[in-house]
Amino acid sequence: MTELHDHLRQRVLAATEALGLDRAAAEPLVRLDPPKNRDHGDVALGAFQLAKLAGKAPPALAGELAARVVPDEVVAAATAAGPFVNFRFRRAALARVVLAAIQRAAPPYGKAGPSGQVVCIDFSSPNIAKPFHIGHMRSTVIGNSLCRIHRHLGATVHGINHLGDWGMPFAKMMTAYLRWGNEQELHRSPMRYMFALYQRYGQEVEQHAELDAEAAAHFRALESGADNQQRRMWQLLRDESLRAFQGPYSRLGVTFDHVTGESFFEDKMAAALARVRAAGVLEPSEGAEVVWLKELGIQQPCLLRKSDGTTLYHTRDLAAVFWREQQYRPDRILYVVGAEQKLHFDQLKGVLQRMQEPIARAVEHVPFGLVLARTDDGKWEKFATRAGNAVFLDEILDEAVAKVRAIIREKNPDLPDADQVAEQVGVSAIVFNDLKNSRIKDVKFDWDAMLSFEGETGPYVQYACARLASILRKVEAPVPPPEAVDFALLADAERVLLTMLDFGPAVQRAAEQSEPSIVTTQVIALAGEIHAYLRDHYVLGAEPAVRDARLLLVDAARRLLTTGLSLLGIPAPERM
Ligand code: ARG
Repeated sequence: MTELHDHLRQRVLAATEALGLDRAAAEPLVRLDPPKNRDHGDVALGAFQLAKLAGKAPPALAGELAARVVPDEVVAAATAAGPFVNFRFRRAALARVVLAAIQRAAPPYGKAGPSGQVVCIDFSSPNIAKPFHIGHMRSTVIGNSLCRIHRHLGATVHGINHLGDWGMPFAKMMTAYLRWGNEQELHRSPMRYMFALYQRYGQEVEQHAELDAEAAAHFRALESGADNQQRRMWQLLRDESLRAFQGPYSRLGVTFDHVTGESFFEDKMAAALARVRAAGVLEPSEGAEVVWLKELGIQQPCLLRKSDGTTLYHTRDLAAVFWREQQYRPDRILYVVGAEQKLHFDQLKGVLQRMQEPIARAVEHVPFGLVLARTDDGKWEKFATRAGNAVFLDEILDEAVAKVRAIIREKNPDLPDADQVAEQVGVSAIVFNDLKNSRIKDVKFDWDAMLSFEGETGPYVQYACARLASILRKVEAPVPPPEAVDFALLADAERVLLTMLDFGPAVQRAAEQSEPSIVTTQVIALAGEIHAYLRDHYVLGAEPAVRDARLLLVDAARRLLTTGLSLLGIPAPERM
């Protein structure tokens, strides 16, 4: 939080202490958030929980707190409104503290020091023997942003790609490859080739049901652990897929700390099952082994071992929880996976709860909605491509970039590095569109809307950044240090400054709620406010003292937009 928040916090805590509340108990209850309505104040404190602690009615406590936080050199006013206390900062203090902190990249504007929190983020995690699904793109983009947000807040982050590189789907792919595949074609275009094999398997199995038995036999051979043909095949298909993913991942600015797919847990599942058994919750069921979860309100039991002795997706996820617990000691394990897997994660958490494993508390499913595309008659339906549900991520990214390249050719034909800018803007447009609304909502994939340079789009915010950079290039004076600026001259920039003030609490909330859209909203607001400010106020032609103050503001806006975009995984071009 900013020094303003810190200062106010101390003032509020002094007031609660004076009212007889225990400091340690009050501390976590003092949350200073932007008020619902900006006219009410700069920050607001909801007094509900503090009131409970004091054994008073919230409006009564709010009134007492407001009376005790008398104005000082930073706080201009404290007013109670029902159960809330609204605070206003002195305008010069607001400008000074916020702009100086942004210029120094002090938290919350720069990365915080180590917080001690450890967060595992399981994201992207495509099935390499099955098509990359558009949902995996959402997981990739949301997970990447969450990694960046938590790192910004000082957490130790483990970004994990839990590749689907094991199990029956993989065995089916292997069956198809062994029957019809050829290595040269595989190397030429692994994703497309594997997809063709996957489709062929689907067609042929209709006539030849024995294919499934063959796949099951391959899977048993693979799980036997022996160094056999199946194992070599598995290695080949996995290596090729990973190499193919690397392209889109690097275009999206995505990296992983660990690529530990399902196969990684092959030799860890027996111990995981033994642990479940030892906890006394594993029960036989028609030759298989399950954990019943009815007492937790989940009707379907969690199947952990099939009757033929093989393991399942759940078994590997359970082994993965234990592995992560032992290796990383996480406070939170976030699974960024589509809403359709809710039951899977409820069951996973349920098993851990029944085992009375404390790590159960850390398990959090972070679901998200579908991607919708417009049909020819203008309706929205589940995104599908010519190839059915498969998505070749590089193709989508290429299409976005080509469209932006065309726009640049028309609007700014002399732009240097136009190809690079088109790449940055095109890819970002897709990312921004994905992170714009709360993640549980469906995303509308609409090229015109997401590529527009006006409205709430990636190109719009990037353009705002480039425009600020261009002003800073044109002004012949350097950006002054905050000590040299008369902050009274920024009285007209109140709205910009308040938007900047909101940044810290917004990033905090985004992390708590696993909701990058809170940052997106913040970035859109800042771009809009600085844009509006510059419509009515000159920087270049203003007299020196005013120009300097505004330069500092413009520079801070550019820095903060750049930071905000980077938390979304989006670069900010200097020119557009
Ligand atoms: N590979 C899975 C899928 O595509 C997603 C894996 C998500 N992570 C996990 N730990 N289950 O459906």
